[in-house]
Amino acid sequence: MEIIRAKDYDDMSRKAANIVSAQILIKPDSVIGLATGSSPIGLYNILVERYEKGDLDFSRIKTVNLDEYKGLGGDHPQSYRYFMNKYLFSKVNIPIENTYVPNGLEEDPEKAVTDYIQIIRSLGGIDLQLLGMGNNGHVGFNEPGTPFELEVACTTLTDDTIEANKRFFEKKEDVPRLAYTMGIKAIMHAKKILFVVSGERKAEMVAKAFFGPVTHEVPASILQLHNNITVIGDEAAFSKLPI
Ligand code: GLP
Repeated sequence: MEIIRAKDYDDMSRKAANIVSAQILIKPDSVIGLATGSSPIGLYNILVERYEKGDLDFSRIKTVNLDEYKGLGGDHPQSYRYFMNKYLFSKVNIPIENTYVPNGLEEDPEKAVTDYIQIIRSLGGIDLQLLGMGNNGHVGFNEPGTPFELEVACTTLTDDTIEANKRFFEKKEDVPRLAYTMGIKAIMHAKKILFVVSGERKAEMVAKAFFGPVTHEVPASILQLHNNITVIGDEAAFSKLPI
C-alpha cells in the first residue's frame, strides 16, 4: 500500500489525475473503473483539461462504474449515469458505448446483478479502479456488513448513507433505498486501485480502514490486502492516521 499525502483537495485531485493520466498514456485501451461522489470531481476536471489540451485520448478507453441507485434512470440528475455524463463522458472523446454504468431502472435485481457481472467479466479485468469512501467506510455501495465475496450486489442503503447523500436530493425521502454496486470481490480483482479521500469528516474512518482490523463493519478495510493500492488523501483526511 502506498500512501500519498496531499495538501488539500486540489493537490489530491492533481496527484490522482497524474496516476489516471499515466494509465491512459501507458495503455490507451485500458479498462478503468470509475467512481462518483464529490471526491473524484476535481480529478475528472483535470482529465478533461488535459484532453482539451490534446494530451489525453479516451477513444480506446473502456469504463465501468462502481454503482447506481436502483430506481433512477440516466436522465435523473442524481443518477450516477447522469453524473458521469456531466463530469467526464460528454467532455472527452470516449465513445459512450464504451462506458458502462449499472442500469438503475432494471427492476429485477437478479437480472441487474447478472448483467453487471457479465459486463465486468467481458471487459477482461479492470486495469485501474478509482475509489472514494462513504463516511461509514463503504466503497461503492458496499455498506457495513456486506459480504466480501460478492462480485456484484443489490444493497440496502444504511441510514448513515441516506443521511450523507440527502444533500443532493430535495428531501431525505427522495434518496433511493436500494442500489446496485460492484461487490468487494470484483473491486479486489482490479489490477490497481486508486483511492482518494479528503476532508476532516472522513479522518477517523480512513484511519480505521487502513490501520484497523479488516472487518465487514468497515468495508474499505479489505483494501489493505490489495497488492497494488495507492491511497491519496489531503491533510484533513489523514489527520488521524497513526503514522
Ligand atoms: C456515494 C458513493 C460512493 C462514494 C461515496 C463518497 O455513497 N456510492 O461510491 O465513494 O458516495 O462520496 P463523497 O466523495 O461525496 O464523499
